[in-house]
Amino acid sequence: MAKKIQIAIDGPAGAGKSTIAKIVAENLGFTYIDTGAMYRAVTYKAIETGIQLEDAVTLEEMLRETEIKLQPSNEGQLVFVDGNDVSAAIRSNEVTAHVSQVAAHANIREILVGMQKQLAAAGGVVMDGRDIGTHVLPAAELKIFMSASVEERARRRHLDNEKRGISSSIEKLKEEIALRDKMDSEREASPLIQAKDAIFLDTTSLTIDEAATAILSLAKEKMV
Ligand code: DC
Repeated sequence: MAKKIQIAIDGPAGAGKSTIAKIVAENLGFTYIDTGAMYRAVTYKAIETGIQLEDAVTLEEMLRETEIKLQPSNEGQLVFVDGNDVSAAIRSNEVTAHVSQVAAHANIREILVGMQKQLAAAGGVVMDGRDIGTHVLPAAELKIFMSASVEERARRRHLDNEKRGISSSIEKLKEEIALRDKMDSEREASPLIQAKDAIFLDTTSLTIDEAATAILSLAKEKMV
């Protein structure tokens, strides 16, 4: 029987991680786990309850009393905060603009990483994020570090926003993506870096299918 491996997919915003990870998971019959959604869920609740995002202590108190649930569905992963479906709300411009600030707190990361490790413990998972190969699943059988040019990533986010009915401008997205890259890569707690044993995949000129096929063939080698 094929091994139920762990697949870690890391990389900056807009590299195509979630779209491609979803296809890979579906193809292998694995569970897809979008860890960015967990940082977004915390940010969303903090904004809703009026907690200062730089106040790591109060944020932690809030998180310890929050139930975050990820649920696979036909339309992708659904996210519930305290029983409410926040899957769309966590993609708002406001949450997107503030999530890096929340993700920079080491205490918040520690709690979410603990939850992520548990979710992946049984194997058969494709998990995407920024620190999956380096911190969350250091023993993952397959690690991919996915990237693409800032221009291409802004273009993709723009199309994505249009689909979701969120207004956006490519120029503004480029600036935001570059800033988020900088914050995610330069933060002290688990910065965005490629794990030593990760395979680099540049998706700038790859279609979604080409990128998914490349990962699937690497995965199948590890599953025998
Ligand atoms: O992938 P995304 O855009 O939904 O991620 C939202 C934010 O959360 C992003 O700024 C980086 C952060 N993040 C992180 O620090 N670690 C993860 N494992 C996943 C996301």
